[in-house]
Amino acid sequence: MKVVEPTAQSVAEAATLLRDGKLVAFPTETVYGLGGDATNERAVAAIFEAKGRPQFNPLISHVLDAAAARQFVRWSETADKLAARFWPGPLTLVLPRAEGSPISLLATAGLDTVAIRAPSHPVAQALIRAAGRPIAAPSANRSGAISPTRAEHVAESLGDKVPMILDGGPCLVGVESTVLDLSTATPTLLRPGGATREAIEAVIGPIALSHAIPTGEASHKSPGQMQSHYAPERPVRLEATSVAADEGLLAFGPTVPTGAMLTYNLSPTADLGEAAANLFSMLRALDRPGIGRIAVMPIPQTGLGLAINDRLRRAAADDGTNQRG
Ligand code: TXA
Ligand code: MG
Repeated sequence: MKVVEPTAQSVAEAATLLRDGKLVAFPTETVYGLGGDATNERAVAAIFEAKGRPQFNPLISHVLDAAAARQFVRWSETADKLAARFWPGPLTLVLPRAEGSPISLLATAGLDTVAIRAPSHPVAQALIRAAGRPIAAPSANRSGAISPTRAEHVAESLGDKVPMILDGGPCLVGVESTVLDLSTATPTLLRPGGATREAIEAVIGPIALSHAIPTGEASHKSPGQMQSHYAPERPVRLEATSVAADEGLLAFGPTVPTGAMLTYNLSPTADLGEAAANLFSMLRALDRPGIGRIAVMPIPQTGLGLAINDRLRRAAADDGTNQRG
């Protein structure tokens, strides 16, 4: 494995690896992805293998823009409106598979829909352009672990599984893309993420919330939305308004309880964008020997707070299942 600066040359090298069916980890604005050629069944199988991911949990295909997406999915007017507002960016659309779509059947786990998004990170875009094909990419972590927002997180968990990691620095959004199902009569939010519910509804009107949203329960429609996801090794306690001496505190806002063994503040000014960007790296930093438990202060359930609270609930869940992505 090598961690490389993204240059014209290293991106070209990465694209060659992808066209040869090899895997490359690359930055997106949300989290790092573990990429493979979305049209190559063996490359896609290698992604599942490297992550230790159950094969019934489908992958997102990454493209440059809406024009490219139309080759792979049955596009719609709603998709058009959303892409005009959010692409490139942290919104994944689930649409019916286009007839003759070359996207690997394994990538979609046999579903008749395809999850597709156009990332805004310039390195992701350069890689997709150079590869000349859609790139299937889940978050570049072992299945069930915390998503990577820095190249070194990828190196720690998948370093031995991937020949090249393109280092684009820390991810600016920090939580995964919003997954919105447009194959249903009413668009349905399958996973809250970097594009907020409020911003989506401002474009297309009211959307349905999958039952996974409030409770974090497993959903049939979004197989990746199982409870225990993004799990740190240490137990996580939510809605903490005070702390114990053996706890590490993930704080939010200006007023922080004292007495924790170690404290990281997601955003001292209570800015949800800053909190999302810091979430996974601070969870990792608190998940370390000497800390008995991770206590997390309450986060407002608006805007990016939906995605942050969703990931925190999963981090706190200990449901004994092993269905992770
Ligand atoms: O921000 C992101 O979305 C990152 C970056 C790398 O793009 N990717 C990511 O992928 O988070 P992953 O595999 O960790 O999560 C993809 C989610 C899963 O919950 C999966 O179940 C859902 O998207 N998904 C994929 N295809 C689907 C489909 N056809 N129908 C419903 N849900 C789907
Ligand atoms: Mg993931």
